[in-house]
Amino acid sequence: MTSLIADIEQIRADFPALNQHVNGKPLIYLDNGATTHKPQAVIDALSYYYQHDNSNVHRGAHTLSDRATARFENARRTVQQFLNAAHAEEIVWTRGTTEGINLVASTWGRANLQQGDQILISAMEHHSNIVPWQMLCEQQGAELVVIPVSNEGVLDLDAFDALLNERVKLVSLIHVSNALGTINPIEHVINKAHAIGAKVLIDGAQSVAHWAIDVQALDVDFFVFSGHKLFAPTGIGALYGKAELLNAMPPYQGGGEMIEHVSFSKTTYNVLPYKFEAGTPNIAGAIGLAAAIDYLATLDRVALAKHEDALLQRCQQAASALGGIREIGQAAHKASIFGFLLDGAHPADVGTLLDQQGIAVRTGHHCAMPIMAQMGIPGSVRASLTFYNTLAEVDALFVGLEKAKLFLL
Ligand code: ALA
Repeated sequence: MTSLIADIEQIRADFPALNQHVNGKPLIYLDNGATTHKPQAVIDALSYYYQHDNSNVHRGAHTLSDRATARFENARRTVQQFLNAAHAEEIVWTRGTTEGINLVASTWGRANLQQGDQILISAMEHHSNIVPWQMLCEQQGAELVVIPVSNEGVLDLDAFDALLNERVKLVSLIHVSNALGTINPIEHVINKAHAIGAKVLIDGAQSVAHWAIDVQALDVDFFVFSGHKLFAPTGIGALYGKAELLNAMPPYQGGGEMIEHVSFSKTTYNVLPYKFEAGTPNIAGAIGLAAAIDYLATLDRVALAKHEDALLQRCQQAASALGGIREIGQAAHKASIFGFLLDGAHPADVGTLLDQQGIAVRTGHHCAMPIMAQMGIPGSVRASLTFYNTLAEVDALFVGLEKAKLFLL
């Protein structure tokens, strides 16, 4: 059996980039945490837009502009439904997760953080959920406090409890660690943070592709994700924010679209979400993101998630059968991200040898230097799996690793 999904070959056929040879071998793409491939439906949506509807949005007095605007705003509603947000204006287009976090840091953060306030993040954050807060804390005289994580990659909830106090204004947490695969207990964190009056931002970059998100059920204040890790184009993402928070926040960038009226003496700002969308947006990207979400809606996402769990388990079983492999990130609740070290081999060498066999993985610190430093490692090899991967591909990874072992050790 190569898959728990009956129609896996049909699904794979939807992703043209999977069907190629690399270094003379059939491509085995296990770098979905970095970016996912795009189904034909997304590629077609981009191409259709540029062939038929290409125009600027919200501006033109002509039919093409009306069509582009309708498709662009429909795409926003698609994201709204995807996250189960209460209102379409709670969805702000961004370039991706990084920009979403930077937007909240530079608007909500500058308006709400004062000297002595605290922001809590965890020790397993991606740099994009560390650096914007460091920059903000420097500007505001606030303090960035780190919730410890065990060497297995588990958030220390007792330490989190102990860190909660009235100075904490924001908890900003990665939902799924891109380096370790850990799924964080965000419901618990959100409830605890709200109990002391803090707001919560969840970095959903690595979670949205794996299961459904309901921002209203979570009662999360801000949720950010990137399209390109969700089978959509690069350069598009979304920030969800509760309307009352977004309304109270100052604008992000200044320019066209984000204004209501401009004069040299005073400028007033547009309503949500346009207040945060200066300049011509990534119209094609938004349409492509909606196409990716529509494509996912044709699949049984619960079955896909079970299949991804089976892929991770197969990695873990194959690793213990092969020996000499240290799994990096051993939380009980993990998404289908298998980080590891091959004893005695540098991750970069392992990655190069796998690439020669047509197997794409990521190596290095995965933009999470602090957790790598805590574990005393320079980085790891990471196989990040999604629903179009097969058990046979996982087996091929371990055949590849066996060969790498012979070569390197
Ligand atoms: N943050 C992305 C990754 O984990 C790029 O690979």
